Amino acid sequence: MKQNFTVTNLDSTFGATVTNIKLTEITEETAKNLYSLWLDRSLLIFPDQHLTNQEQVKFAENFGKLEFNLSPISNVRTDGTVRDPNDDDIVKSLKGNMEWHHDSTYMPIQAKGAVFTAHQVPSKEGQTGWADMTAAYEALDEDIKNKIDNLSAYHSYEYSQRERYGHKPQEESEFSGYGFDVDPKPLRPLVKVHPETGKKTLTIGRHAYKIPGLSDAEARELVKFLEDFSCQKPRTYHHSWSVGDAVIWDNRNLMHQARPWDLTEPRIMYHARLKGDPRSESGLNYK
Ligand SMILES: [Fe+2]
Repeated sequence: MKQNFTVTNLDSTFGATVTNIKLTEITEETAKNLYSLWLDRSLLIFPDQHLTNQEQVKFAENFGKLEFNLSPISNVRTDGTVRDPNDDDIVKSLKGNMEWHHDSTYMPIQAKGAVFTAHQVPSKEGQTGWADMTAAYEALDEDIKNKIDNLSAYHSYEYSQRERYGHKPQEESEFSGYGFDVDPKPLRPLVKVHPETGKKTLTIGRHAYKIPGLSDAEARELVKFLEDFSCQKPRTYHHSWSVGDAVIWDNRNLMHQARPWDLTEPRIMYHARLKGDPRSESGLNYK
């Protein structure tokens, strides 16, 4: 069957909006075409899909196995009440995710990607942003590339979340769904080779905290410099959500963040996370 969806590239180095498609009715061939387009553009946005949880999982499985069951990303309890904006570990994790990051880099295998759907959105703000770390690497000066080509960073959720946002210890925390931290902390090259495109891309983000060979202060300064350089236009895109939107992104070469919103307003998203390939997404000390 001929590919019949419409692709409109975003005004950034990556990303596309895909229309004239119903994700619940795609053929195997369309799924393959979407996979190729995803590798090429890293982020695909599908407006007006209104996927059920089951449909979201089924769509995500076209792109690989899932890292864990579908998970809500939400400040609303199952009874419908909004969580305390200031003293709730789930909300603290939402706040942490307002910093740029790749998913699961603090776990032995980082995620391949994720499918996100919008079920309830605040009246304003609360966008999700992505940053193209392949374009960022390519834009760096040669001397910086030479400096970082052989450096690696340890990634830790204990650092990025517990130390910085005051999470309770794992055994007491309501937020411990897919692991809190591991020992040893995964060590990841700052410059990763994407396993499917073969392109060099930066792996940094909020979980990166120590770099062997540098002092902690130097490591933080370097990671911050790379993030500030990377996460600016035309290498970023921030999406304003409408209920029914579905997106898929490649976690191997994009970072992402949520933008703040009034946390007394409900925001309910669902997240299906694609499992990374252990051959290419394992930490260096987990191979
Ligand atoms: Fe995330």
